[in-house]
Amino acid sequence: MPKCIRVPKPDGERVRGELAASGLLDLNLRIRAEGDFLLMPVTGDAPGFTAEEADFESCGRRIADYRECADIPEDLRPTLPVSFDAIGDVAIVKVPEPLLPYKNEIGRAMMQASSGIRTVMRDAGVKGEFRIRDLEQIAGSGSSETVHKEFGLRICVDPAKVYFNPRLATERRRVASLVKQDETVIDMFAGAAPFGLVMCRHASPGRVYSIDLNPDAEVFARRSIELNRISRIVPITGDASVVIKDLPDADRIIMNLPQTADKFLSCALGKVRRGGTIHLHKMGERADLDCFMEDLRSSMSALGLDMHIAGVSELKTYSPTMSVYVLDIVKD
Ligand SMILES: C[S@@+](CC[C@H](N)C(=O)[O-])C[C@H]1O[C@@H](n2cnc3c(N)ncnc32)[C@H](O)[C@@H]1O
Repeated sequence: MPKCIRVPKPDGERVRGELAASGLLDLNLRIRAEGDFLLMPVTGDAPGFTAEEADFESCGRRIADYRECADIPEDLRPTLPVSFDAIGDVAIVKVPEPLLPYKNEIGRAMMQASSGIRTVMRDAGVKGEFRIRDLEQIAGSGSSETVHKEFGLRICVDPAKVYFNPRLATERRRVASLVKQDETVIDMFAGAAPFGLVMCRHASPGRVYSIDLNPDAEVFARRSIELNRISRIVPITGDASVVIKDLPDADRIIMNLPQTADKFLSCALGKVRRGGTIHLHKMGERADLDCFMEDLRSSMSALGLDMHIAGVSELKTYSPTMSVYVLDIVKD
C-alpha cells in the first residue's frame, strides 16, 4: 500500500507545497480527506511526520512507481531503491551493489515513470571537504547542472560541483520563518546559498553572509542571486572560521556541516549577539544525543560562553542507529 502522511486540514496547503518543493509528494496519487485530516501520498520520509499506509486513487497520470516498469530479475526487485532525489530535472539515485548490472535499466524506468526528469545520475556517495556527490549518468542526456525550484525560488546548482540537498527544503523554510526584520545572518557552510535565498524571499534580513570553502559554491550562489533578483546575500569563498572574524556580529548563524560543525561552535558563539540563535546541524548516534548536548554545554561553559539549547529536531535518519539533528542554540 502507498505511504502517506496525515496532515491537519488547516496545514494542508503549506505542507502540500513543502512536499512538492522537496519532491516528496507522490504526484501520481490523489490527496484525500479523512475527517479533520488530509492524507498526502509521499515518495519517501517526510521530516517531522510519521509515515502510514493508505489506499489512494490514481491521478490517471503515468506509471505510479518506476519499480513497476523496471525490467530486472524478480529476486532483485525488493532491493530496488524506494525513493530518489529530484534536483531540478536531474534525478539522483543510490543503486545497491547487486543492482549495479541493471543501473541503466533503473535509470530508464525512472525516466519513463517521472515526467520532468531529463537525466538520471547514480549517486556513489558524498565525498571530501566540499561534500560533493560522485555522480555517474545512467540514463538521459546532458550534464548534472540544473535549476531547482523551491518555494518560488530558482536555485542554480550542479550537485557534481557543489553540495545541495532538496530534502532540507522544510528546514530552510522553518529557519526563514524565524528571521526578523533586518537581522544579520551568517551561513557558515552555505553551499550554493539555498538558506540565504529562501530567507531573502520569505523574510527580510538586513544581510546574509553566505560562506563556503568551495569556489563553485560562490559561482552558483551568484547565478541564483541574479536569477531571483535578490540583493541582500553576500557570497564569500573561504574558510568560515577565518572569514567570520571580519564580519559584523550576527543575530543568527547557520551551521550546516553535520559531521564537524560542532568544532566551530565556539567561533560562532563569539560572533553571535546575546539572544541570537545558532542552528547547529549534527550527525550522530541517536542513543548519544543527550550525552552530546551535555558535553556541548559543559565545553562551552568551560570557555566562558553562556548558551542554552532552545530546541532540537531530527532532520533525517542517516542509518539504522544514526540521525542528523538541528540544535537551536541561543547565546545567553
Ligand atoms: C553539508 S554542505 C551544506 C551546504 C548548504 N548549507 C546546503 O544546505 O545546501 C557543507 C558545506 O560546507 C562547506 N565547507 C566545509 N568546510 C568548510 C569551512 N571550513 N568553511 C566554509 N565552508 C566549508 C563545504 O564545501 C560544503 O559546501
